[in-house]
Amino acid sequence: DWIMGDYISEAVDRIRAQVGDEEVILGLSGGVDSSVAAALIHRAIGDQLTCVFVDHGLLRLNEGDMVMEMFEGKLHAKVIRVDASELFLGKLAGVSDPEAKRKIIGGEFVTVFKQEAAKLKASGAGHKGATFLAQGTIYPDVIESGGAKSKKAVTIKSHHNVGGLPEQLGLKLLEPLRDLFKDEVRELGVALGLPPEMVYRHPFPGPGLGVRILGEVKKDYADLLRRADAIFIEELRNFKDEATGKSWYDLTSQAFTVFLPVKSVGVMGDGRTYDYVVALRAVQTSDFMTADWAELPYALLKKVSGRIINEVRGINRVTYDVSSKPPATIEWE
Ligand code: XMP
Repeated sequence: DWIMGDYISEAVDRIRAQVGDEEVILGLSGGVDSSVAAALIHRAIGDQLTCVFVDHGLLRLNEGDMVMEMFEGKLHAKVIRVDASELFLGKLAGVSDPEAKRKIIGGEFVTVFKQEAAKLKASGAGHKGATFLAQGTIYPDVIESGGAKSKKAVTIKSHHNVGGLPEQLGLKLLEPLRDLFKDEVRELGVALGLPPEMVYRHPFPGPGLGVRILGEVKKDYADLLRRADAIFIEELRNFKDEATGKSWYDLTSQAFTVFLPVKSVGVMGDGRTYDYVVALRAVQTSDFMTADWAELPYALLKKVSGRIINEVRGINRVTYDVSSKPPATIEWE
């Protein structure tokens, strides 16, 4: 609509005025905020923007390719994809404590991003290189950063909206979404041409599947979890609630699959199986501080468990998490 159109052209003018002929780098995570920031800044300054997408190997199925397809393929933005999955998995080997895992993932993320930023700053493709660091900081982040919200809050945003990083890199900060609330960021994203499915996605934690694989993270576990989770999400999108016509994906605030590193006995054909277990988690909440488990239709749960057990060899049991927050948290770690 024209109001958003006005907003975009004003924001574009502001970014151009601030950046001039200098260059900008941005850490793209695939999340809503960094995606919308990237799309907006790209609209304003095109190739003066370089996005750095650090793939820690703990993303969802095909997520990395989707990010590349969208930003490089469709928007024609410059994107450097760093496949750091082996590095991250190596650092996580033998580590099972949730907060220790978070620290490693957040810390490595900053290290890898800094290396890429330093390279870009040095390279400069014929001129001076990047002088701005762009971040998808939104208004609620600005308010929150006054005081830490929880044990996780510090790490939560910290590896994408990194405090202190611009100074360490000697870069100026560009934060074009600083005055916007989440719903405004989403509207802006759609107006900029990002697909609504991307802009209205459930939140996904920075440490990704790293906190959805209980205990030690292993590549095999991540691969099984990715496939099981993709089935759950696909069926949530397929199943419509008759009363409202909305999909169960849109009727839940967050839904995902958790990998439990325990084996249980099953039977297939005339053989016995001894395979892993996953838990499905779906919640409804307005603020993520408290949450109710979602009363998903049995037919949906049945379809999902049948598909996971039949299609994902290595998983022979699916459970549904019926715990609310508090006292349970939304994530299992
Ligand atoms: P919990 O599990 O504490 O989660 O009920 C509340 C919300 O925060 C998300 N979450 C995280 N997000 N890094 C993030 O970026 C984290 O380490 C992290 N831990 C939890 C969680 O997905 C939910 O939306």
